[in-house]
Amino acid sequence: MARGKFITCLSIGVLLVFSVALLVFAADPPEKITLKPALWPTPTKTPVEFTHKKHSEEYKVACDQCHHVYQDGKNTWKQGDAVKKCEECHTEATIQGEKKLPPDQQKLNLKLAFHNDCQGCHQKLKKENAESKAPVICAGCHPGAKTE
Ligand code: HEC
Ligand code: HEC
Ligand code: HEC
Ligand code: HEC
Repeated sequence: MARGKFITCLSIGVLLVFSVALLVFAADPPEKITLKPALWPTPTKTPVEFTHKKHSEEYKVACDQCHHVYQDGKNTWKQGDAVKKCEECHTEATIQGEKKLPPDQQKLNLKLAFHNDCQGCHQKLKKENAESKAPVICAGCHPGAKTE
């Protein structure tokens, strides 16, 4: 009886591991993404080469740290769900004086979405550990850009 239950639990466990592996495989994220949003036809900085795979695998950043769909203020996006481009929702395109926009517009500003997400985490890491190699200066993400 107890042995039967144990075997049942074991099989369910094995099945679970397989389905999770399948799910990860199905939504295999790309290695690298050149971030060049169409919302900015004339960008002022060099486009950012984002090491997508490294961030999720090597740096172990959870998918839902960057991907979200908000419902009643809660992120309901789960791994395996469709991924929209950031600019499909963050449609506010201002790239100068964006921090002076009203709060509601700032939330949907594309530049702030990227900078708050990327720089926000890197700055936090740098604060916790000065040795962190997560770039916080402009040229660390926009290659060839002046370090401001
Ligand atoms: C941690 C990475 C990161 C850092 C550091 C960073 N940026 Fe960005 N920035 C991005 C990403 C990602 C985008 C959106 C994708 C793109 O435009 O290539 C972006 C977009 C921009 C844009 C809007 C698009 C354009 O080219 O006009 C400007 C302006 C900009 N950044 C300026 C800066 C300046 C100035 C600094 C330094 C004070 C800086 N960024 C530092 C990641 C970063
Ligand atoms: C550190 C932030 C970050 C993490 C962590 C992250 N992603 Fe992404 N992901 C992005 C960005 C940024 C894009 C590009 C969005 C855009 O082009 O506007 C993207 C794009 C994608 C795309 C679309 C790719 C394409 O070529 O159209 C998929 C699918 C995706 N991510 C899945 C995942 C999954 C699954 C995970 C977790 C295993 C994950 N992402 C973790 C930031 C992240
Ligand atoms: C399906 C629509 C949608 C997509 C796609 C989306 N966002 Fe958002 N995002 C939102 C909404 C709506 C909010 C505001 C939530 C709130 O009211 O607090 C938000 C908030 C944010 C915030 C916090 C607000 C701030 O500026 O501090 C960041 C950062 C952010 N998004 C970054 C991103 C990035 C980076 C991507 C692409 C990888 C992305 N978002 C894709 C809808 C989206
Ligand atoms: C939740 C945390 C987190 C977020 C969000 C995040 N990063 Fe990072 N990033 C890291 C860590 C951790 C490293 C590695 C630091 C080290 O090696 O010490 C890193 C390293 C990097 C590097 C240098 C090494 C490499 O792999 O290229 C670049 C460039 C970079 N990130 C760009 C971005 C961009 C662009 C975004 C937004 C789309 C982003 N990061 C979002 C945590 C984050």
